[in-house]
Amino acid sequence: MLVTGGAGYIGASVASACLDAGHTPIILDDLSAGVHAFTSGRQFFAGDVADGAVLAEVFAAHPDIAAVVHCAAQAVVPESVAHPLEYYHSNVAKTVELVEQVARHGCRRVLVSSSAAVYGPAAGPAVSESSPLAPASPYARSKVMVEQVLADAAAAGVLRAIALRYFNPIGADPKLRTGQQAREPGAVLGRLLAAQRGAGPFIIAGTDWPTRDGTGLRDYVHVWDVARAHVRALERFDDVPSRNGFVAVNIGTGAGTTVRELIRAFEAVTGEPLPVREGPRRPGDVAGAYARVDRADRLLHWHAQLSVSDGIRDTLSWRRVRDAVLNGARRGGAGAAKGA
Ligand SMILES: NC(=O)c1ccc[n+]([C@@H]2O[C@H](COP(=O)([O-])OP(=O)(O)OC[C@H]3O[C@@H](n4cnc5c(N)ncnc54)[C@H](O)[C@@H]3O)[C@@H](O)[C@H]2O)c1
Repeated sequence: MLVTGGAGYIGASVASACLDAGHTPIILDDLSAGVHAFTSGRQFFAGDVADGAVLAEVFAAHPDIAAVVHCAAQAVVPESVAHPLEYYHSNVAKTVELVEQVARHGCRRVLVSSSAAVYGPAAGPAVSESSPLAPASPYARSKVMVEQVLADAAAAGVLRAIALRYFNPIGADPKLRTGQQAREPGAVLGRLLAAQRGAGPFIIAGTDWPTRDGTGLRDYVHVWDVARAHVRALERFDDVPSRNGFVAVNIGTGAGTTVRELIRAFEAVTGEPLPVREGPRRPGDVAGAYARVDRADRLLHWHAQLSVSDGIRDTLSWRRVRDAVLNGARRGGAGAAKGA
């Protein structure tokens, strides 16, 4: 498997899950956001996904690559609002280049990272793959465009493609080989940790949302479950029914977690009460959504197995080993790094 972005958060987890399932991941990453330590002991090519010379090198060394898992992308929403052209270039134009090259080298299976962001903020509470697409940022629109590029290429017989629309990945590899590159987790887990450290109470932004307990809802899915979904999709690739060679599949837990439930899970994992204050809704916030996952079950024979508590526990465990892994003092993979 060629895993683009395999030195990043999701791609590195996918590479680990491939290894654990007996498939050899070949990583292609330009290290713009990824970390070299995550490629330790793995076949690694440093380079851009749109660089034909590097891809020629990759396929010359590994002519038996069965499929491409395309995780490489720029993925910071506010940055995409400030630099939309850069995002369309990185995420869309470079995917076109990659797909052309990959097909030229005879590989016709592409599994691509997509996102629940394609559905837009007003979708919900339960989102299926046929819910309306309403991407709300250049980043999210780039994901819709990538899906369209692949769907059109598939319809023309260039390749077959599966897009996995991840909801809210959290956690780290349970074996702690990889996790989020940043020292502190982003979004809500970062705010929970800050409150735990004494930086002021965790503020619940709105208690009057139309959810089961009035607080916002997200579908936090463990990154290891996300990674396993890729392995399932790769192993079943040729048997997955699709429309004209392309299909999109939600990857979430199918339930969702409210803010209050997340706080309770955090307290249960840490064993400490968390200082919490209820506040008003913030402008731009939405009630949130969770994934309908029957398609993932039917097509990939996959469903999430790990809980939000597992995700919190693995995030906290990863924080303890992160510096050592990134500095190479704690080896993530096995053996010496190979490749370019
Ligand atoms: N993390 C999430 O919450 C989330 C949610 C939904 C979808 N996704 C999607 O999953 C994928 C992976 O996201 P992530 O969170 O692991 O991000 P990440 O930044 O950790 O990983 C992306 C990797 O791609 C590499 N990369 C970027 N542009 C490249 C290029 N042109 N050539 C080669 N390598 C390149 C980066 O160096 C990095 O290692 C992205 O496509 C993202 O849009 C992520």
